[in-house]
Amino acid sequence: MNIVLLGAPGSGKGTQAARISEIYGIPHISTGDIFTENIKNQTSVGMLAKSYIDKGQLVPDEVTVRIVEERLSREDCAKGYLLDGFPRTIPQAEALDKVASIDAAVNLDIPLEKLMRRLTGRRGCPKCGGNFHIDFIGDVTGCPKCGEKLVTRADDNEETVSSRLKAYTEQTTPLIGYYESQGKLRTVQADGAIEDVLRSVLEVLKAL
Ligand code: AP5
Repeated sequence: MNIVLLGAPGSGKGTQAARISEIYGIPHISTGDIFTENIKNQTSVGMLAKSYIDKGQLVPDEVTVRIVEERLSREDCAKGYLLDGFPRTIPQAEALDKVASIDAAVNLDIPLEKLMRRLTGRRGCPKCGGNFHIDFIGDVTGCPKCGEKLVTRADDNEETVSSRLKAYTEQTTPLIGYYESQGKLRTVQADGAIEDVLRSVLEVLKAL
């Protein structure tokens, strides 16, 4: 099964993708995570991506498409994959359609005004990859899973989040119509508890 997970920044794509990929045994491919890894390793792609990510802008399509095409050509994608955060523009979706057959685009739908709090309260663990929110873990400094010091993403400040939400509205929301016209759009309300959202996504996938 080849799935695209659509949704605004902070809608819960990463949170849900981690669970879905484990349940279905398919790789979770996040372009955001690939860029983060490249930034950490100071690659040329990472340095280029950082200059856009720091401003809350999308990385240029040609760079992003190349990375995803390479990733999808690997053996672990043969039995399916879950794309998180790609495509994010119509040209990216068109490029994807040339190299892949997408079964469904699941849109995590949530009012945009809820997302500032979700993003500015997010904390991540650099060691185990855990993704948390201060509303659930409180104001702790150590990772609840492994004890490592938690970090706040550089682009989770109010100014950059505003730019990311603007980029989403202008460049990514047209994908809703794109996949709807292909009969592949499935919308899930993403405003509930994490496990309730997961249940809704799994119901949608089971019905495919
Ligand atoms: P990326 O890392 O993909 O960021 P994003 O799309 O902005 O999404 P996030 O990871 O911030 O949020 P999410 O939806 O995964 O939410 P999460 O599950 O973490 O991309 C970063 C940047 O890279 C982009 O800005 C862009 O510059 C670039 N980029 C990436 N892909 C690109 C592309 N295709 N083209 C061009 N550029 C690209 O949840 C958020 C928080 O809420 C967490 O704290 C979580 O614990 C909490 N939470 C989750 N679900 C719930 C719930 N149901 N209830 C309460 N809290 C919840």
